[in-house]
Amino acid sequence: MKWIMAAGVGLAGLLAAWLLLFQLPEKEAAAPEQPSASVPEVEVDAASMETIYKSNCMGCHGSDYQGAMGPALSQVGSALDRERLYAKIAKGGGGMPAFEGRLSEDEIVGLANWLEDFK
Ligand code: HEC
Repeated sequence: MKWIMAAGVGLAGLLAAWLLLFQLPEKEAAAPEQPSASVPEVEVDAASMETIYKSNCMGCHGSDYQGAMGPALSQVGSALDRERLYAKIAKGGGGMPAFEGRLSEDEIVGLANWLEDFK
């Protein structure tokens, strides 16, 4: 009789170990990625972003991001995440030209990362 209980306890232990080993990591892996995951987070060189801004964006968004024909961008990182910033710059719309094809993928990703910190 004792050995049956011992085997039971042993099996329960094995089951618990199995759950720990296999179930938990699987659950962790299934957790949703951060929302901006598809636009990579990159280190940006602010000086080169400012150069791109001056020649492509400043005319409509202002020399101090205060806005002109386009809206102010000085706080845009609080309103839009990296994904939305990227989409707006790439696709334009609402009076803003699309920069896909005019700027490189890396430049648009860089701008999105840069503007994300405007808060
Ligand atoms: C020809 C003028 C023009 C140029 C050039 C321009 N924009 Fe815009 N931009 C606009 C307008 C107009 C809007 C508002 C669009 C809307 O309401 O949908 C806008 C909206 C945006 C927004 C969204 C702001 C918000 O609060 O919703 C971002 C971000 C942005 N522009 C970034 C840029 C960047 C970065 C560049 C340069 C690569 C650029 N824009 C160049 C006119 C321009």
